[in-house]
Amino acid sequence: MTQITIAAPAKINLFLHVVGRRADGYHLLDSLVAFADYGDVIEVEQSPDISLEITGEYAAKLALCPKENNLVWKAAAAFQKYSLKPVGAKITLTKNLPVASGIGGGSADAAAAIIALKKLWELDITEQELSKIAVSLGSDVPVCLYGKPAIMRGVGEEITPLVLQGNAYIVLINPNLPLDTAEIFREFARGGYNYSAPVLAYGNNWHDYKDEFGFKNDLELVARAKLPIITEILMEIADTEGCFIARMSGSGATCFGLYNDGIAAQKAAGKLKVKFPQAWCVSAKILS
Ligand code: C5P
Repeated sequence: MTQITIAAPAKINLFLHVVGRRADGYHLLDSLVAFADYGDVIEVEQSPDISLEITGEYAAKLALCPKENNLVWKAAAAFQKYSLKPVGAKITLTKNLPVASGIGGGSADAAAAIIALKKLWELDITEQELSKIAVSLGSDVPVCLYGKPAIMRGVGEEITPLVLQGNAYIVLINPNLPLDTAEIFREFARGGYNYSAPVLAYGNNWHDYKDEFGFKNDLELVARAKLPIITEILMEIADTEGCFIARMSGSGATCFGLYNDGIAAQKAAGKLKVKFPQAWCVSAKILS
């Protein structure tokens, strides 16, 4: 029986600027997104119906939600309609990434499911239709489908590939406390936070995105007010040897440090694990 396995890498917003708001309340973003060689895994195989089994470190966190609410299920259901013959799939999700953590776990899973099911069901679907389904599932799904460094604009539907020179390594740390994306955006809108000006030029060097050049995460202040431990985590990351950017990803609470050197990233992760024993913390390479 054909079985297809696809990685669902963690998504990191290396910077995230909120530049405006649409009439429907969604925020307009300008963000550099990259992916780590660490994440969830999706496996699919032919079956008469859709089923979803969830395993892995963070499976228990999803156990309380109906499976039909999982983005992977929604992706499969949306896709089924595009097949001319009746299709189903036994889907297994290995949930290694913390849930509601700003690194796109759900979106990455949905994108991986789309890629896997398109292959499994041999669907003939245009890129345009694919993008429409992706964006309907969530703002981060289109960029997760792309899977490489890109500038994401609009509400996530405008993706422009960006080539960055050399390798970069990352430490990801989450205090194991969830943050609700909708709530963080609501708070941003209510709290009188300023919009950022649009970015005029995007550099090709990781170092071009340091704080000193005006790059930041506009949702960081909102998240830090809700979870003060984020401030402490960011200070500790910035203090690790070789770190040139310490920032929060997405709507939080996952924070990251960027390094030129893989060993430096591993050492930093070791230090942070001792400092925050209750946290989830990994080091990884950025996918280019
Ligand atoms: O698209 P996603 O499901 O990740 O978004 C969750 C919620 O966050 C949305 O329902 C919306 O309230 C808010 N959001 C927003 N602007 C965005 C993305 C999300 O206001 N660009």
